[in-house]
Amino acid sequence: MRLILLGAPGAGKGTQATFIKEQYGIPQISTGDMLRAAVKAGTPLGLEAKRFMDAGELVTDELIIGLVKERLKEADCANGYLFDGFPRTIPQAEALRSSGVLIDHVLEIDVPFDAIIQRISGRRVHAASGRTYHIAYQPPKVEGLDDETGEALIQRTDDHEETVRKRLDVYNAQTRPLVDYYQQWAQSGKGDTMPAPAYRCISGEGSVDEIRSRVVTALQD
Ligand code: AP5
Ligand code: ZN
Repeated sequence: MRLILLGAPGAGKGTQATFIKEQYGIPQISTGDMLRAAVKAGTPLGLEAKRFMDAGELVTDELIIGLVKERLKEADCANGYLFDGFPRTIPQAEALRSSGVLIDHVLEIDVPFDAIIQRISGRRVHAASGRTYHIAYQPPKVEGLDDETGEALIQRTDDHEETVRKRLDVYNAQTRPLVDYYQQWAQSGKGDTMPAPAYRCISGEGSVDEIRSRVVTALQD
């Protein structure tokens, strides 16, 4: 299974990725998680990325494409991969396509923006693993602590309402065009040397379990 999860900030990509990666035995390649790890480790890449992330803006295509190309060389990508939060611009999608990286499915999770603000403002994460909770919708067993390790949960530095609104604007301007890009490729690309991914859009409204079963159905056909 080689999959791209597409969707606005807070649509539930990371939440569903946790289940998909276990179900299909594939690694989750979350460029956001990779950047946050680099920020935490204080690497030059992390320092460069941090100013964009804290402003709710996208990190440069060049930096992201380099990061993903290196990640794909690792052995665990041999049987498939799940991209979460990548590609996020047309140049990133073109880079993936021209590098011959195969994709079977592009799955869009669609959630209205007003629901997203509520979701993101209640989000708490376990920094080391990327495991995600919500104080009301998906609470941990013990308040403030990760279910598996018992370590403290944190709030992401880009999850303040003003930054979230900026991230939604950036999504509309730079990432939403990928919906057309992949839809058109799926419809017209039958003769390409590079096989076109199937494109599906599911509603991301409802419980985490309801969306999980929509994901399973969408990936079946
Ligand atoms: P990134 O980490 O990718 O963030 P994002 O796309 O903004 O997405 P989120 O992680 O905010 O949302 P999600 O869809 O994963 O939702 P989640 O499952 O957590 O990127 C962060 C930054 O890094 C970017 O702004 C940019 O600067 C940089 N970056 C990353 N990739 C880049 C790239 N390719 N190019 C350039 N820059 C890049 O769910 C959200 C909340 O809702 C959680 O609390 C969850 O518990 C809750 N929830 C989930 N499902 C449900 C449900 N069904 N009902 C109720 N609550 C739910
Ligand atoms: Zn995420």
